[in-house]
Amino acid sequence: MEKYSSISTVILLFIITTSFIGVLSLENGLGRTPPMGWNSWNRFGCQIDEDLIKGTADALVSFGFADAGYKYLNLDDCWEGERNQEGFITYDKNTFPNGIKALADYVHSKGLLVGIYSDAGFLTCARRAGSLGYEEKDAQTFASWGIDYLKYDNCNNDGSPEKQRYTMRDALNATGRPIFYSICEWGTSRPYLWGSKVGNSWRTTGDIRAEWMSVTSILKRQQRITHYAGPGGWNDPDMLQVGNGHFSIDEQKSHFSLWAALKAPLLLGFDIRTPPEDTIKLVLNPEIIAINQDPLGKSVAIAQSSRFFDIWTGPLIDGHVALLFNRAEKPLTITLDFSYHCQLEGEIHVRDLWERADIGNFTKGPKTWDSSLETDGWHSSGNT
Ligand code: GLA
Repeated sequence: MEKYSSISTVILLFIITTSFIGVLSLENGLGRTPPMGWNSWNRFGCQIDEDLIKGTADALVSFGFADAGYKYLNLDDCWEGERNQEGFITYDKNTFPNGIKALADYVHSKGLLVGIYSDAGFLTCARRAGSLGYEEKDAQTFASWGIDYLKYDNCNNDGSPEKQRYTMRDALNATGRPIFYSICEWGTSRPYLWGSKVGNSWRTTGDIRAEWMSVTSILKRQQRITHYAGPGGWNDPDMLQVGNGHFSIDEQKSHFSLWAALKAPLLLGFDIRTPPEDTIKLVLNPEIIAINQDPLGKSVAIAQSSRFFDIWTGPLIDGHVALLFNRAEKPLTITLDFSYHCQLEGEIHVRDLWERADIGNFTKGPKTWDSSLETDGWHSSGNT
């Protein structure tokens, strides 16, 4: 029973606005749940080539990532060559000698999807050819190569507002090929306000680094915008750094749990051809992935934020999830009040998603939890 369900005041407010009349909205049917896959940037930067991408496609399948849902294999910046005389984009012939079409065919033959990168500016961030002014040509080229996902960056542009400059949406729609459209303007012009009309996801901050401080500072900036995420359009706090840098396992668990529960895209960024055993186990946890891929598509919201810990909670299609995030550098006791933090009453069945074990049934909060880890994810369901 929901706490406030007996109070039923309904106010119907009709607001008629003309601001979107005549403008296509994004109706590509994609991203009903957040995208999952791998992207080259966090680990490899500009050092990408055909062998790396093929090897990564093989690894996505052989280590079980693809079966767990990681289907997109996304090239980031630095695949681009020059534009040809007709103005069409070409690929870097030194690093991709057989071209992107052949590579996409290989990736597809593994049962995966393939993503590419471009920029709503004259040059990409790595100063390769950008798409500004070439949107139709580039969208056609990407579609003809069999591309399924486009990350669209914001470097070296003409200074015009992002909301107008991200017209790649219309060019992609015009190709007739469903292409997931990932807006990457770093949260510059509050993309959560217009992003769902334009793209399937929008970056909410600048680039993530493989450092704990970077993860926590990005996290903090998600607090006020969680309600903008939903099926078809997701907040993107940037790609995962699990498996990179020098994170402890607890830090990786925290990063992964939080991104999953925020309904962020789950794009791995470590070298999955030689994956560390404990990181594989972590990102393949089916119960954490299920939180991210829950069909209701609602992000957790901050329910309490204090000096040493945060509590994030949110609804699932068949229950609720609560995340007790210990930010202190020592074990803590955190109190979860089912009524106050989750708006749940009655008997509540609780499961620990990392231990993958049922904890028991509880009637009413508050209940305290000892956290020896830096984070624990709790999933309650069956509340009656
Ligand atoms: C920007 C983006 C990154 C990455 C690089 C590539 O910094 O935010 O995610 O795509 O460009 O040059």
